[in-house]
Parts: sequence; structure tokens; C-alpha cells
Amino acid sequence: MSPAKKIIIAIDGYASTGKSTLAKSLAGKLGYGYIDTGAMYRATTLFFQRHKVDFDDLAAIQKSIYSIKIQFRPSEFGNRTFLNGEDVEEEIRTMKVSEKVSEVAAIPLVRRSMVAQQQEMGTERGIVMDGRDIGTVVFRDAELKLFLTANPMVRLKRRFDELTAKGHQINEEEVKHNLEHRDHIDSTRDDSPLRKAEDAIELDNSELTPEEQLEIALRYAKQRIGSN
Ligand code: CDP
Repeated sequence: MSPAKKIIIAIDGYASTGKSTLAKSLAGKLGYGYIDTGAMYRATTLFFQRHKVDFDDLAAIQKSIYSIKIQFRPSEFGNRTFLNGEDVEEEIRTMKVSEKVSEVAAIPLVRRSMVAQQQEMGTERGIVMDGRDIGTVVFRDAELKLFLTANPMVRLKRRFDELTAKGHQINEEEVKHNLEHRDHIDSTRDDSPLRKAEDAIELDNSELTPEEQLEIALRYAKQRIGSN
């Protein structure tokens, strides 16, 4: 029997719609790699903040973008994000980064560099990648594209609970504003705005448990793998 063909699974959607939860568990079930593209934009934002790179200074961005090396390394608790060799997994999830990441992600020079790295990571297929433009730009040929949605109250609660569980001192209003603000910038930017790919399957997970959404996604994935 020939080995099962490996596919690319693209998961896109608005902020805090459960993309990474699904992507991680799906990758685990299929024995695929998982790429959190949001973490790459977050790590880039952290780099610019630390090095005081002005987001309007294209010459400075051009100069520094190629000195940003982002890697994912597995750990006991899942993948961790490394920026130039330093584990920045915790720091990139702080509000300080969340407040600026969508501005940084709207810069075409930044997108060009990230997209090239993401395409490189997927050359052998067998990956689940989540983000905003995976099905529309990064892997337009992905065999399975999912577009996650959830109602705003559910999304807010999930993100608030996730951050407070990690010990972040935040209030709900701040989180709500951040989700709305990022969704607005992400869906109205000129370069690869967030939108559902025509061939993506929309999945509203407001009423689904993580296990239920995984089961649905796995069914689609197995169909695609089997039909290749
Ligand atoms: O908070 P959440 O997990 O929903 O977001 P994320 O996946 O960590 O992404 C953080 C931000 O990075 C987004 O709000 C977008 O501005 C940007 N992003 C993007 O522009 N394109 C991607 N493929 C992934 C993220």
C-alpha cells in the first residue's frame, strides 16, 4: 500500500475563534506539523518594539526584517515560538504585543517576508497552518480550507479566560476592544485582508466543544486525504 498522501490544511478566521486549538489537535491526530502564523507576526512585532523600529519607517523595516529569525520548537506543553534563538512564547501573547500586531501585520514588506517563510515550511505538505490569509494567499492550493467563526461573546470569554488563567492582569473591556480593533484592521487592510476563501468551509464553533469541532474537521481531512 502506498503511504497516505499528505495534504495542507489551512485554518483562517477572526481573532480568538479557536483556530489554534483546532489546528493543534488536528495536527496531533494526523501526525502533521502545526504552524501558528499569528505567532510569527507577534514575534516580529516584539522585535520591532524592542529595537524601537518605527512602523512607518520602511527603510528601517526593510533593514531589520531579514535579521528576524522565527522558529517553532516542540516542548512538553506544545510548540514554543523562538525569536532569534530566544523563547518568546509568553511575551508575544501579552497585551503590549496584541495592541500593535495588526498594525505590523498590515505592512506589505512584513507580509512578504512572513508568507515566503510560511510557504517554505509547507513545501513537503503534511501541515496544519492557521492565520488570516492561509487559504487566500499562502496556500491557495490547500486541499482543505476551514474558516472558523464564533459569536463575539463566546470569543471574548474564551480569550479573557485564557489570559487570566495564564496570570495576565487584564480587564474584559480591554480584551473586547483589542479583538474588535484587530478584526477591523485585519479585514480592511489593503494587503491580503482577512476574508473567507471561496472554497473554504465555514465552521461556527460557538456551540461546539473542542472535541466536537475536532471530530468535524477530522472527517473533512480524512475525506481529502482519502481522495488524493
Ligand atoms: O489572537 P489570535 O490567536 O486570534 O490571533 P493570532 O493568530 O495570534 O494573530 C495575531 C495577529 O497577527 C492578527 O490579529 C493579525 O493581525 C496577524 N496575522 C495576519 O495578519 N496574518 C496571519 N496569517 C496570521 C496573523
